[in-house]
Amino acid sequence: MLKKNYNFVLDSLDFSTLLKSLQSAFAARSSKSVQRDLLHTWFVEACDQKYALAYCSARMGLHCLLAQLGEGHQQANVVIPGFSCVVVSNSVRSAGLEVRYADIDTATLTPGIEDFAKLVDDNTVAIVVQHVFGLVDEHIEQLKQRFPEVKIIEDCAHALGGCFADGQMLGSKGDYAFFSFEQSKPINVWTGGVLVGSDDRVFAALQAQERQLAVASDVHDIGCLLIICLHFCCFAKFAGGFGVLMLRVLAKLFRFKPSMSVQERHGVFNPSVAVRFSERRSAFINEQLKCLDKNKKHRQQLVACYQKHLGVSFKLPFYAMVLRYPLLVNDKKNFIESCARQGLQVGEWFSTVVHPADPAIPEFCYQAGSCPKAEAVCAALINLPLGLRITLGDVEKICGIVLSAKDLNYGASKFLG
Ligand SMILES: Cc1ncc(COP(=O)(O)O)c(C=O)c1O
Repeated sequence: MLKKNYNFVLDSLDFSTLLKSLQSAFAARSSKSVQRDLLHTWFVEACDQKYALAYCSARMGLHCLLAQLGEGHQQANVVIPGFSCVVVSNSVRSAGLEVRYADIDTATLTPGIEDFAKLVDDNTVAIVVQHVFGLVDEHIEQLKQRFPEVKIIEDCAHALGGCFADGQMLGSKGDYAFFSFEQSKPINVWTGGVLVGSDDRVFAALQAQERQLAVASDVHDIGCLLIICLHFCCFAKFAGGFGVLMLRVLAKLFRFKPSMSVQERHGVFNPSVAVRFSERRSAFINEQLKCLDKNKKHRQQLVACYQKHLGVSFKLPFYAMVLRYPLLVNDKKNFIESCARQGLQVGEWFSTVVHPADPAIPEFCYQAGSCPKAEAVCAALINLPLGLRITLGDVEKICGIVLSAKDLNYGASKFLG
């Protein structure tokens, strides 16, 4: 039986990074824009794009971008993978554009060129390419050649720190890219994100719009840092099996809000908190950016360990930064229950084509059966933790539990190898 809680929230913060990030956040002066400017510069340089703009969430950045791209187009549409987070679909539709879902390749968990090509027409303004779980989608240059009129947007929400095979950072090949700092992402500050791109006209409009947003209050920012600390303690080693219980009590007491609302699961766009991404949050993120290499190396070691113990011979490309370790299993329900009985809560990203929502809800405009491969993957996919607080010893224990649950089919992990 596991004595430690493995969870996927704030799993990229270890104790020393948390302390440094907090110090930096408290030292930041909310009236200034020093840390925000530093954050923007980091992304501009890393992604080799002209502009970066931080938002209260990646979904907010995507929504604002798509509203710009769709302006003046009648019946514009956007093609996204039929294997994504519901907030991506919500951002498209709330910007007034039609959403189309591309099926995926079961081996890579991303749509191939032909999957996109079937859906692109003269009204397509953008294609969203997703580096899901941090697995690198290398189709961008081909897509640009084939559809020169269509803007390619890289969804790097899971993938900050990863690179393409040629060494360029993810987010540098698309016309635009967005990154998330939401609580379950590679670096995090509960909610937040960054949009990058190089189009002068679009970014002038986005910057002007963003300046109109309210400034987050100190109470709001400090409340958010407090929630991060409480979560961290609940999942620390000393909390043992009581962490989850503690968290439930604290969540009730302090009214923690999940980063995805019930309305969002029903198709309504919600930017989380429609305020400017603050100086304090920027400082918190800037500290974590300094530790990005350590974060990446740690995840790569854990992936290698999973592969060794689960008997997968394939080696992870050195350039990827994997957020969660995906596995396909034959009997998902029984597998999850068997792991839970042994104290292991496995991750269930992505359980539907508009995870975690029900794609049958008419607002999503998803036609059942239109992405058959994605639907089959969703029915069989589970994911295992890879955060900074997970040790190689933990991975060994997790693999022991996974193997005892038998009945595996290593489809997705073959890709990782
Ligand atoms: C694949 C993907 N894209 C985009 C997002 C949106 O990020 P954010 O929560 O910062 O809005 C998420 C997660 O929420 C996601 O999983």
